[in-house]
Amino acid sequence: MLQDCFGLPVTTDAPEVAAAAGAFAEEVLSHGQRAAAILEAAELDPQAPLPQALAAALFLFLQTADGVQRARPWLARAHAAAARGATRREMLLIEALEAWAARRPEQALAAHLEIARYWPRDLLNAKLAQVHQLNLGDRAGMVAFSSATLRACADLGFAWGLHAFALEQAGELEAALLIGERAVAMNRNDPWAQHAVAHVHEARGAHAAGIDWLEPLAPTWDRCSSFMLTHQWWHLALFHLARGDAGRALALYDQRVWGVRKAYVQDQVNAVSLLARLEALGVDGGARWQDLAAHVRPRIHDRQNAFLDLHFAYALARAGDDAAVAELLDGLAAHAATASAPAWRELALPAARGVVAHARRRWQEAQRELQPLMARLHLIGGSTAQQGWFRQMLEPARAAAWPVAA
Ligand SMILES: [Fe+2]
Repeated sequence: MLQDCFGLPVTTDAPEVAAAAGAFAEEVLSHGQRAAAILEAAELDPQAPLPQALAAALFLFLQTADGVQRARPWLARAHAAAARGATRREMLLIEALEAWAARRPEQALAAHLEIARYWPRDLLNAKLAQVHQLNLGDRAGMVAFSSATLRACADLGFAWGLHAFALEQAGELEAALLIGERAVAMNRNDPWAQHAVAHVHEARGAHAAGIDWLEPLAPTWDRCSSFMLTHQWWHLALFHLARGDAGRALALYDQRVWGVRKAYVQDQVNAVSLLARLEALGVDGGARWQDLAAHVRPRIHDRQNAFLDLHFAYALARAGDDAAVAELLDGLAAHAATASAPAWRELALPAARGVVAHARRRWQEAQRELQPLMARLHLIGGSTAQQGWFRQMLEPARAAAWPVAA
């Protein structure tokens, strides 16, 4: 059987299709711009289940309802191809992606962990598992898993970067720094490892060190997809903000963070929280909120991820689009009432009310909604640095500058 560049078996008779599966993994792991090349490979050998499944993954990464719809035909093709022959790894991957499409991340994660038991050197699988662990706030599980992956893949730099990020999320800052720096020494073009080290500096409040770390690496981001590109600049802007340099951070917002791929939810998330943090330092977001709201408005019924929903709600509320806010909150309440995951009901819904209150400068209401949630709010997803935005909403010194509307 043919193998990809990681030595993993691929059900196909076409060497270029096996190579394309490995290339897709490398693009996802390195947050590159060429992951869509998998679509050609999937067309080249429709009998090969893996490229069909990876094509579905490409659309699931969009994290939108539309992305799920675009993924479904590829999942159907993956199933049809697998019926004619597939490895156990390929079957489990299809199962994981179907669970992701069906908004059952726990089930998707279980399938990824099963793959890792037998194919621990499948780093794309490890990356997908980490995405779900982050979205589920499973920080302890993330460390245990990335640690096991690293033991099997110590020769692969991406495994060090994955583990560095997991360690940082779990508060193991010393180890995260050592391992993240080692990953970047192995591969300077590993943006996830670069980013893990930036997270350590953020967590330590070492803002000057964070700037000194990220700025020289910026030329390596030009090859990145918009999420990683705008997110690295987002981190750099946070360091400038923490040093009180709102002007520099606002310039990064206008030139780097917002505008690369405005339709992509992760770009939207970076922009919303940065603009809100800028306002906490006295910057007037003004018409920028209208631009953001125009791009998040099509997402208000998606219900793909509660962490995203909180950002959409905030942008719409700051833009004064009360009808869209009400529609989003109603949809969220309806989903929370029936969702199997309690986080929608216990965390997402009250948190959405809280961030909307904050956006409307109703400080006491925001505090009343958000304060009881803070110990568990990471269970709706978002990194420690991203969750820091919600913690900032509870800081009286920041709120004191704003008029209390109610
Ligand atoms: Fe980050």
